[in-house]
Amino acid sequence: MALWGGRFKEGPDQRFKDFNDSLKFDYRLAVEDIEGSECWAEAICQAGVLTAAECQSLKQALEELKSEVLADPQAVAQAGDEDIHSFVERRLIEKIGNLGKKLHTGRSRNDQVALDLKLWCKKACHEVKQAIIQVEKQLVATAERYQGCIFPGYTHLQRAQPVTFAHWVLAYAQMLERDYQRLSNAEELMQTSPLGSAALAGTAYPIDREKLAQALGFKHATHNSLDAVADRDHVMELLSCASISMVHLSRLAEDLIIYNSGEAKFVTLSDKVTSGSSLMPQKKNPDALELIRGKCGRVIGALSGMLVTCKALPLAYDKDLQEDKERLFDAVDTWLACLEMTALVFEGLVLNEDQALQAAKGGYANATELADYLVAHNLPFREAHSLVGQIVLYAIEQHKALEELSLEEFRRFSAVIDDTVYPHLHFDKILAARDVLGGVALGQTAGEIKDWQTLLAEHSAKLGQKD
Ligand code: ARG
Repeated sequence: MALWGGRFKEGPDQRFKDFNDSLKFDYRLAVEDIEGSECWAEAICQAGVLTAAECQSLKQALEELKSEVLADPQAVAQAGDEDIHSFVERRLIEKIGNLGKKLHTGRSRNDQVALDLKLWCKKACHEVKQAIIQVEKQLVATAERYQGCIFPGYTHLQRAQPVTFAHWVLAYAQMLERDYQRLSNAEELMQTSPLGSAALAGTAYPIDREKLAQALGFKHATHNSLDAVADRDHVMELLSCASISMVHLSRLAEDLIIYNSGEAKFVTLSDKVTSGSSLMPQKKNPDALELIRGKCGRVIGALSGMLVTCKALPLAYDKDLQEDKERLFDAVDTWLACLEMTALVFEGLVLNEDQALQAAKGGYANATELADYLVAHNLPFREAHSLVGQIVLYAIEQHKALEELSLEEFRRFSAVIDDTVYPHLHFDKILAARDVLGGVALGQTAGEIKDWQTLLAEHSAKLGQKD
């Protein structure tokens, strides 16, 4: 049963129907459509369209329908209706007869779908935030486990200065926390309800839209009906949050793939998130991480696709907007799956402390320290930099680390160098010197870990989630 047969002489071509119908994917909006309908029934009842008894029966039938769709969502997908709105209305009429036909008074599928999708986006924000917290918890636990472990820090993928593994892990916690905050900001902009905007010009029934908005869980009602039915900013914004976050996850994945490589061997991935080769028995491949890195493209693709769909789209509703759903659902599913996988990777991640320490020691990662030592002995930094460059060149030729040079060798380059240089080149000293907010000193990291634990407990409490 279509919602619009009256002005047509013949039915749609089956090929057009297959092309046009959206139930096969918008069935995922069933709960939002039903809850929106319950609030709409209440609103038109207050506007005098329904009696209190009619409203009651409608709401009861809708509740029953909600249990049915929750029990078997796939059955909804395959029901053959044009879209989720047609499905809900048909089932309602099958349940309570003609009364079901009154529900759509003063409403259009345009404000209905705008509402359903906005409600879905709000729920998605909440769900993704919970998933982000799970990853953050794993990151913080990993940082705590390996707090004092020295790790090579890179720029240009060249060993630069030593850091700790905890400091590296917490860098990603910062990125994910910005993703969390970005979602919270996006949620704030999803706080207006489009219901009551009808097809494009606003409903002709005296609905208290502010009250309706609050019943639906929004802060306010939208203030322009043309905008309200055509607005998909929340979809674009969620996809853009997803894309940025996936970029973070892909960087994390890439770092770990490198650190796990046979060349580095700084970390060992758990068997739970790796797979073997059908040909080479020795292989243990970082598939989980590679897929996270790869799926980033898919999510960014969804964002670009959505932006292009909306570009130059005339007001108000156009069917182009039906293209918003599949990519949004896919992107959010992908994002959630990647967050879950990232948490799992960290659950079983082992740091090979010795390998990491040796790598940090190689590559003259304490050269900056030597320059700072010379600065402390009154050399201008630029001169110290150049001098240390020459010392490093000499040490490379001698196949020695800086701390392995004799005092006599050091003094060939500068007479200000004395015995006190050796403790300066020591790794513990290098870390300890960076005792600035955001620096790599162990005391800073310990404080950060404490702060993270407090913050994550706060987030969990806010989201109504156990620790
Ligand atoms: N399936 C449609 C969508 O997703 C619902 C709105 C249809 N509105 C219309 N005027 N045909 O956008």
